[in-house]
Amino acid sequence: MGKEKHRLRRYIEDIEMIILGIETSCDETSVGVVDGDGFVLSNVVATQVDVHSRYGGIVPEVASRQHVLDMRPVCERAILESGIDWSDIDAVGVTYGPGLAGSLITGLNFSKALSSAISVPLVGVNHLEGHVYGAWIRTEENDPKPFQEHVGDKLIMCLIVSGGHTEIVLLEDHGKFRLLGETRDDAAGEAFDKAARVLGLRYPGGPEIQRVAQGAPTIEPLPRAWMKGTDDFSFSGLKTATLNRARSLGIYPPDNSVKEIDETIIAGLAKVFQDSVVDVLVTKTVEAALRENCAGIVLVGGVAANQALRETLVKKSPLPVGIPPLEFCTDNGAMIAMSGLVNYRHGRRDQWDLDVIPNLRIENTTFS
Ligand code: KG4
Ligand code: ZN
Repeated sequence: MGKEKHRLRRYIEDIEMIILGIETSCDETSVGVVDGDGFVLSNVVATQVDVHSRYGGIVPEVASRQHVLDMRPVCERAILESGIDWSDIDAVGVTYGPGLAGSLITGLNFSKALSSAISVPLVGVNHLEGHVYGAWIRTEENDPKPFQEHVGDKLIMCLIVSGGHTEIVLLEDHGKFRLLGETRDDAAGEAFDKAARVLGLRYPGGPEIQRVAQGAPTIEPLPRAWMKGTDDFSFSGLKTATLNRARSLGIYPPDNSVKEIDETIIAGLAKVFQDSVVDVLVTKTVEAALRENCAGIVLVGGVAANQALRETLVKKSPLPVGIPPLEFCTDNGAMIAMSGLVNYRHGRRDQWDLDVIPNLRIENTTFS
């Protein structure tokens, strides 16, 4: 143990810098520690899934209060697990938007206090950029270097799919994003969550739909909204089609007098729902990437944890694909640290007047 600590100490002293990332934009309190090479030293996530699942969705005030309770212990554990001391931290990166105002404020205030207490710069991070830079994260098991070397400084197409966003974004240069298309109604994750509710599955719906869809029988497909001639998406029609099919199959509304619904019926509907979302996301992203002469595609955000989406994109894309390991797809502090590192290197520093921006857009972020 003593030897290990000594080895760690030498390693920490050798590396160029250490950045701590703080994420509280939604229902996960998370702190990650990343070194100057994008290597993750720790990533601790306290999820509030159990707190919100009985409401079938996130209750903003409950989320803020839970962040208050979890923030300090999560941060202390991230420091402990990384093997660093507080004095090793060179910068604090923090999500300041987009997200729930009350949740963002908790993490931002904590970050201001921490950066001030240890006298290091505070670096604001756009949550969506954080997701994108999740694809740059290195761990013992994951080395994104071959992908990064392939794309070099060429254009990269990013598909950001989360509970609140579905966007096709062109990464022109580090920190320079161009929004090409987005959802006109529900986000992909939101669609998963709503469909799961109709199917009588728990919140969050994405992992549940993926679980039950495995090995499901083939039934008649659900429609796809192509939004032709644009890079936009729409999932509300699919939501309605899922609801109507659930009604006709007797799955919805739930009828307590019926003892058990045949699970294969639910599984079949979950599968055709997932197929429809995956097909549209993959087809449109590959089309956009080829049209814009991109060198590669990155798939990020909570929905990027979906196995069918990951596999289909890799199979259908003629370009190399970068996808973060599962742990760094859903909200996490390490991706905020990674994105904070990029911002820091481009000279971004924030002061005490940094405010939360709940509707922060991806192209709003600048290195300033
Ligand atoms: O990025 P994220 O953790 O939080 C936001 O920034 O919104 O994304 C959460 C969303 C939820 O809607 C959840 O249902 C979805 O990601 N999700 C998935 C999977 N895991 C999480 N959707 C489909 N398949 C999954 N395996
Ligand atoms: Zn997110």
